[in-house]
Amino acid sequence: MMRRKLVAGNWKMNGLVKDCAFPKALSEALNAEPRCDVLLCPPATLLSAMSATKPDWLKLGGQDCAAQTSGAHTGDVSAVMLADLGCTHVIVGHSERRSDHGETNETVKLKTAAALDAGLIPILCVGETLDERESGQAEDVVVRQLLASLPACDADRIVIAYEPVWAIGTGRTATPEDAQAMHAAIRSAWPGRDADVLRIVYGGSMNPANAEALLAQTDIDGGLVGGASLKPQNFARIIQSAR
Ligand code: G3P
Repeated sequence: MMRRKLVAGNWKMNGLVKDCAFPKALSEALNAEPRCDVLLCPPATLLSAMSATKPDWLKLGGQDCAAQTSGAHTGDVSAVMLADLGCTHVIVGHSERRSDHGETNETVKLKTAAALDAGLIPILCVGETLDERESGQAEDVVVRQLLASLPACDADRIVIAYEPVWAIGTGRTATPEDAQAMHAAIRSAWPGRDADVLRIVYGGSMNPANAEALLAQTDIDGGLVGGASLKPQNFARIIQSAR
């Protein structure tokens, strides 16, 4: 089953107003309309300005959303607000939020449901720690995390991001074979009968040098790119690797 690839950039807590020029620089670096879906998740502070100036092919997303739609939740941004800003996707359950903000599988499930209710496509992040990988528990941990974080939904309304925690920001990338094995395990664990349309993207030190080998794997349907998405040239080379 051919699934259109998705390459997403997660800027994390990086980016100032001057960086709203990034979509133009990315267009110039690509020099042609991309052959995959391209999503940028800048800080929420930049979404409004980017939404007004971006090329039509570039989608915008949030890096997180509240489980509630509105109300007395100081500092939070709801999925409804992200949709109102022109977002199509939102990252939920990133390991940095699970660790920095104590987000549990139940919290992530509520956020995923809020994203779906707002008409966004959640990018639900799962991944094991180095200890879990080295002790042979990686697949069990990831599948358990997936099923505990997942509300009922059709496979074409969500993206799963496999992000081994030990590969995030470390320059240590999962081998294409190990990543493929985990993606296949995630697809096999999908509770619906539509697993073949589910997009599963890889995140964790993806860069221009390793993207092609990762994206060539049968069950790797794209990338969720951190550091390498901050520079237009690097992000463009990863996008061009996605065929
Ligand atoms: O969400 C993507 C991110 O966690 C991966 O970061 O810098 O390892 O590509 P990086």
